[in-house]
Formats: sequence, C-alpha cells, structure tokens
Amino acid sequence: DFYVKFVRQGITLAIPKEVSITDIMREHGLKVNTSCEYGICGTCYAEVLKGEILHKDTYLMDDEKAKQDCMMICVSRGIPGSTIELDL
Ligand code: FES
Repeated sequence: DFYVKFVRQGITLAIPKEVSITDIMREHGLKVNTSCEYGICGTCYAEVLKGEILHKDTYLMDDEKAKQDCMMICVSRGIPGSTIELDL
C-alpha cells in the first residue's frame, strides 16, 4: 500500500493495506510505544520528516494535521504508492 522509512533505524518497510504501521514495526522487532491503538490517546505520536499523511486519528487538531509534520502511527497512513519518512 505504502512505505515507511524509519530514519533512525535506517530501514524502510512496506505497509500492506489494512495493516497498521505499528503492527509492521512489532513484526520486525522495532520498539513501539502505543496505548489505545485507535487514534485517540496520542501515545504513538511520531514526527514526520517527509511525505504526505492521510490522518485517520481523532487526537490531532485540524491545524496540526494540516502541517503534515506529525502523525499517529497506530491508525494514520501514507498515500498509496508513496514513501513517508518518520523520525523513528
Ligand atoms: Fe493511541 Fe495511537 S496508540 S493514538
């Protein structure tokens, strides 16, 4: 569906449709900090270094979403076919 480059880890992973970024991170043994997994608590906040985010959470305010510099990785996604870069 889309790709995530984890800049601090130096790896890029494919995120299939219907699978969350956090699930793929766990699958690959990456440390993930989550709580609700529904986009409401803000625990999984990640800084976005590059790319456009399709925000699906209810935690960030509209103006924060518009800035495209952070995301909730438990529910939000990249645009299909694109690569986003995270400070993780
Ligand atoms: Fe709660 Fe992602 S874990 S917003």
